[in-house]
Amino acid sequence: MDVFVYGLLLLTLSKCVVSKSPHIVFIVADDLGWNDVGFHNPAIISPNINYLAKHGMILNNSYVQPVCSPSRNAFLSGFYPFKSGLQNFVILPQAPSCAPLNRTFLPQKLKELGYATHMIGKWHLGMCKWECTPTYRGFDTFYGYYNGQEDYYNYTVLNGSDFRDNKEPIRPNEYSTYAYARRADKIITQHNKSQPMFLYLPFQSVHEPIQVSGH
Ligand SMILES: *[C@@H]1O[C@H](CO)[C@@H](O)[C@H](O)[C@H]1NC(C)=O
Ligand SMILES: *[C@@H]1O[C@H](CO)[C@@H](O)[C@H](O)[C@H]1NC(C)=O
Ligand SMILES: *[C@@H]1O[C@H](CO)[C@@H](O)[C@H](O)[C@H]1NC(C)=O
Ligand SMILES: *[C@@H]1O[C@H](CO)[C@@H](O)[C@H](O)[C@H]1NC(C)=O
Ligand SMILES: *[C@@H]1O[C@H](CO)[C@@H](O)[C@H](O)[C@H]1NC(C)=O
Repeated sequence: MDVFVYGLLLLTLSKCVVSKSPHIVFIVADDLGWNDVGFHNPAIISPNINYLAKHGMILNNSYVQPVCSPSRNAFLSGFYPFKSGLQNFVILPQAPSCAPLNRTFLPQKLKELGYATHMIGKWHLGMCKWECTPTYRGFDTFYGYYNGQEDYYNYTVLNGSDFRDNKEPIRPNEYSTYAYARRADKIITQHNKSQPMFLYLPFQSVHEPIQVSGH
């Protein structure tokens, strides 16, 4: 379960700003190590990540929490984990708790500024009641799973299925990275550029279980 820090946080601000607020795509690579990217380690083949690094800004002196729920809560709420009761560990699958509901999340603030807000991927901030879940915490749409880890192909954890398109339980029929990329492509392509957009895109990869795509 979530024993390592996110290896990489990439913030890409659109260079071609159509509206006065920039479009924001925030990609999280879960548990990817410092030396697991081509721009640090030539033994790693990661051309797309290298491209982003080369044409953007590398923030190489930042600090995050060592596990998922505290990190994700800090990013979305702006509060340190010990101010949110999340300093101990991650939110486990059957835990009757979630990130404190008395905090305003980043997408809620961005909506006040006129943003469309979307989330694709791993939540891990609790799901014991609807109020804890992404579409109740500022995201217009959600496509992903609520727990910390699951199978990359059949989308199950502890014998239960964990995948939703907004609130509807579904099961994609492909490897999760491709399913998330496909949805991201669709959202970005179909978005009306006159409105600023925030896309929070925390991929499942490369968190355990270690499952690569079949092709
Ligand atoms: C971090 O970035 C700075 C500025 O680009 C660079 O001088 C430094 O060598 C980098 N450090 C590491 C550990 O990559
Ligand atoms: C919000 O909840 C946290 C965690 O339960 C608590 O520590 C904090 O005092 C609360 N803040 C407000 C403003 O109610
Ligand atoms: C999903 O795949 C895992 C192996 O990663 C397997 O143990 C489990 O039985 C599968 N569940 C379903 C519902 O197919
Ligand atoms: C999953 O289901 C199998 C078969 O019913 C059961 O033996 C096993 O204990 C279950 N595992 C979990 C984690 O609930
Ligand atoms: C995009 O939104 C603007 C402002 O609401 C509207 O005028 C325009 O027709 C929309 N464009 C498309 C392609 O829907």
